[in-house]
Amino acid sequence: MNNAEMTEKRKSDHVEICSTKDVSSRWNFWDDIHLVHTATPELDFDRISTELRIFGKTLAFPIVIAGMTGGYQSGERINMNLAKAASDNQIGMGVGSQRAALENPALARTFAVLKEYDIPLKIANIGAPQLVEAGNYRKASDMLNDAMEMIDADLIAIHLNYLQEAVQPEGEKNAKGVMAMVRDLATDFPLLVKETGAGLSLALIKTLSKMKIKGVDVGGLSGTSFSAVEFYRAQEVGDHLRARLGRTFWNWGIPTPVSAAVASLYFPTIATGGIRSGLDVAKAIAIGATCAGIANRMLLPALESADATESELKSIIEELMVSMFLTGSENVKSLSNHSPLVLSPTKDWLEHIMGEGI
Ligand SMILES: Cc1cc2nc3c(=O)[nH]c(=O)nc-3n(C[C@H](O)[C@H](O)[C@H](O)COP(=O)(O)O)c2cc1C
Repeated sequence: MNNAEMTEKRKSDHVEICSTKDVSSRWNFWDDIHLVHTATPELDFDRISTELRIFGKTLAFPIVIAGMTGGYQSGERINMNLAKAASDNQIGMGVGSQRAALENPALARTFAVLKEYDIPLKIANIGAPQLVEAGNYRKASDMLNDAMEMIDADLIAIHLNYLQEAVQPEGEKNAKGVMAMVRDLATDFPLLVKETGAGLSLALIKTLSKMKIKGVDVGGLSGTSFSAVEFYRAQEVGDHLRARLGRTFWNWGIPTPVSAAVASLYFPTIATGGIRSGLDVAKAIAIGATCAGIANRMLLPALESADATESELKSIIEELMVSMFLTGSENVKSLSNHSPLVLSPTKDWLEHIMGEGI
């Protein structure tokens, strides 16, 4: 297999594994967050406003479908089903790494399908390892331009996935130079720095806050674990060392609510990682995030059909509205003022991180 074929195979493996195996972290930290019930909400459910402004765009709900796929044949249909639901409900949507399509332009349509839908916030996606590989600013900026044009993107996510790179057989483990590249590119591109399931630390958030990035997607620990995904891939090919690494680092990372609470003190923040319902979306807003990102929970319905995708999203939206009603939150701003109860272990994590000094 050449490089492009390997990338394509990996993309298809990821979707296959995430939709058929248990790839979740052992603990979902959103379960430590509790919204406090209001017995007399004193508002009309039908007049609750879920709209919000983020990155200069208006979303009807504080939800973004986090980048997952594209770059292999079936990715087009998944992206199409997700794009239709994002457009019908006026929420944001990201795509998966566009590397495969940059290497093989025949795959561009598996991402470009987003252009056919009226999605208020479209997020392109490139991995930090590709920036290192590009080696210089000009090559990296050409890549970003091409990726953004491919979907008419409003933002481009630079995804940080070094947990995955460290445990996968073909992983790219040279992370030197990423921050300098992000700093330089942020002056010319609308950058979103995005983790993919292991979260962002306070130290990194502080460093990023000195750059011109537009915001972060904290991609924290709580839901999909890419160490788990790589465990299954390694097991399949009998690679015992990689399987062991995948198992050992299965629960590695900073919990999503912790990263989101901290990051939101510095930038517009998308809280992705372990969001399973509209109640989790409401918890994300209450903890400080600007909006919530959902990946895996949307994957199964998107593999099935456009109707199943729409139905899942509608359920999530209804759960969000009920959460808003029962906390007496007439809009997203008042939900963000709700003071949730935070239990351990998330409470311990927050105390530890806040102890480092915000
Ligand atoms: C099948 C699959 C493929 C993914 N591929 C990418 C990717 O290419 N780029 C990226 O930034 N994140 C990727 N992610 C990570 C998600 O955007 C998200 O950060 C992570 O899955 C945690 O969210 P979840 O718990 O809702 O799944 C992928 C997730 C899944 C499930």
